[in-house]
Parts: sequence; structure tokens; C-alpha cells
Amino acid sequence: MLLGVNIDHVATLRNARGGVEPSVEKAAEIAEENGATSITTHLREDRRHIKDEDVYSLIDKLKTRLNLEMAMADDIQQIAIDVKPYSICLVPEKRQEVTTEGGLDVAGQVERVSEFIKPLLDAGIIVSLFIDPDEEQVKASAQTGAQFIELHTGTYSECFGYEEEEAEFQKLKKAAELAQSLGLKVNAGHGLNYENVHRMHEIDGLYELNIGHSIISRAVFTGLAEAVSKMRNLIK
Ligand code: PXP
Repeated sequence: MLLGVNIDHVATLRNARGGVEPSVEKAAEIAEENGATSITTHLREDRRHIKDEDVYSLIDKLKTRLNLEMAMADDIQQIAIDVKPYSICLVPEKRQEVTTEGGLDVAGQVERVSEFIKPLLDAGIIVSLFIDPDEEQVKASAQTGAQFIELHTGTYSECFGYEEEEAEFQKLKKAAELAQSLGLKVNAGHGLNYENVHRMHEIDGLYELNIGHSIISRAVFTGLAEAVSKMRNLIK
């Protein structure tokens, strides 16, 4: 199972000051040097974290693959066709949300999704659909021409350690099996952390996990001691 690292929150921190630090390119480089097999960024319609120029810069610098998360927006579709990331992952987007809430409703709009992804597929970009672990959504995704789905692990993650964990986990397992039987490759992500990630190994055939928040959060603390002592030494 491969690890895609989502570096959006490095950009969140950078944007808090409006400067260039911390650099998303440097974050991607460190992630790649330490085993990330792809770098994920979400170019949101509100450009809350990742900006257009980050995407153009990353595509030139990455040694692995760029996975661009995006909503069904025409201007972002154009950027994707121009940048040609290795893959895109289609996600739903709401202006007020703190992070992606729920999977994309593919079942309710198979034709629209199929039409939207066609130019991306024609441009040679791999297409993944971020969906809830739901039978109807998996079956609908298989009708669109997308090669991948990414199963939304958010509910499983929230329920981890509680009574509902097993039921939520079984939904992921069943959805992954169904998707593979329909010829789809399967990624998973959202809310995965150092406690709950191990159960992903119980799901046969998962290709890649996309993980962001828990990795960037941990990095703050694993790096803080060095950062403080270095500054302390400089001002001594
Ligand atoms: N996969 C998708 C489609 C997402 O939207 C996100 C969050 O941007 C992630 C994975 C990563 O989620 P987290 O930051 O909770 O690890």
C-alpha cells in the first residue's frame, strides 16, 4: 500500500502570514525523500490554501506524482488540463466547509460526472472519484470512465475506538471489494491518523492512502524541539 501525502496545510500556515514560509515545495521534497509515493494538493475554488502558482511549481519539481484534488469547476478543469498532473481526484466542495465533507454524489449525476471527466481522461490524466463507501456510489463510479475511486474514510476515522467502528470499517471493506470486482482501482483517505490507519491493511487491494492533517500535525511537534533549540543557540 502506497502513501500519498497531502500538503495543503503547509500552505494554510504559509498563507497565515502571506509570505513564502513554510514552502510547499520543500514540504513535498521532504515527503518524497521519506517515502511518499505521491503528493496531493487540493486547489479549492476559494484558493484557501493551495494557489494556482503552487500547482504549476509542484508539477515541475516533484519526483513522484502530483494528485490534484478538485471540484467540478470549469476553470479548475482548465488548469488541470494545462498542468497535466498524474491524477486528479474529484471531490465535492462547499464554500463554508472546514474540510471536504462527505463524498461526491456520483450516483445522482452520473452523466454530469462522466462529461466533466472526459476532457481530463482525453488529456491522459488518471481520474479518481472521492466517494462514500456506499454500493450505489461505487456502481455509479464504475459507469463514468474513471479508473479509480478514493473511499472516504472520514466516518470510519471518527468512529474509531467506538461501537460503530466495526460497521463503518465493514462498509469500507465491502465497497473496496465491489469496486475492484467492477474494474476500479481503490485509494482511501480522510481523517486517517497514527492510531486508526493500521486497519487499512485488512482491506485487500488498497492502492494508496492519502493522508494530510495527521502528518502535518505530528510534524509540528516532532520538529518543534529542534526549532526552539536552534533559535536559542542563535540568540545565546
Ligand atoms: N482525500 C481527500 C479526497 C481529501 O479531500 C482529503 C482532505 O483534503 C484527504 C484525503 C486527506 O485528509 P486528511 O487531511 O484528513 O488526512
